[in-house]
Amino acid sequence: MKKITIAIDGYSSCGKSTMAKDLAREVGYIYIDSGAMYRAVTLYCLENELFTPEGINTDELEKAMSDIQISFQLNPDTQRPMTFLNGVNVEERIRTMEVSSHVSPVAALPFVRAAMVKLQQEMGKEKGIVMDGRDIGTAVFPDAELKIFVTASAEIRAQRRFDELKAKGQEASFEEILQNVKERDHIDQNRAVSPLRQAEDAILLDNSHLTIEEQKQWLKERFEEATN
Ligand code: CDP
Repeated sequence: MKKITIAIDGYSSCGKSTMAKDLAREVGYIYIDSGAMYRAVTLYCLENELFTPEGINTDELEKAMSDIQISFQLNPDTQRPMTFLNGVNVEERIRTMEVSSHVSPVAALPFVRAAMVKLQQEMGKEKGIVMDGRDIGTAVFPDAELKIFVTASAEIRAQRRFDELKAKGQEASFEEILQNVKERDHIDQNRAVSPLRQAEDAILLDNSHLTIEEQKQWLKERFEEATN
């Protein structure tokens, strides 16, 4: 069967990665979480004190970009992808609230986007890839054969993120998460470069009231339509 490119975009914490990962595993495609790459750059900024009271030290970050190596490896036990920053497994650290609350301004920087998009396009050269993010169907793979745009209400998304952090034993406040979700939506939709928007040829999915199993089934059907 011919391999295709699948772009899944949408708002923060709407379950994109769960459905993207499940589909990739089921059909034997590579899964790439593009958000993890922006999160890894943000972790680099936090660890190297590039956030200053005046904002991000963009001069230093731009100089450092060529030293920031991001890669993924499958965890042999869970078969889940782990994110590596300069050879170090940062999968846990990039999911903290601290990174979530700093990532959107970093992802709005044109030179950061240019570097990440280049890397993402290289990863997708052979097709057979499911990538999720904000601009995959619009900027990274505008020719993707299957594009999905996922949305759900901010409250439901915050609740899902809250449950996820709690399950991992991380401290979290629902109000803080809801505020972060809304703030990131706002920055992601209003930035100058590749703002979050639905590609004209993307299929819209509002999964506010779908279970994980239902949305998985829905995506599998779209995949079958696109490959048959
Ligand atoms: O997990 P969640 O959906 O909340 O976010 P994520 O996919 O991990 O992405 C984190 C942040 O990276 C987003 O809020 C965006 O600011 C940025 N991002 C982006 O600008 N472009 C992408 N393709 C993916 C993420």
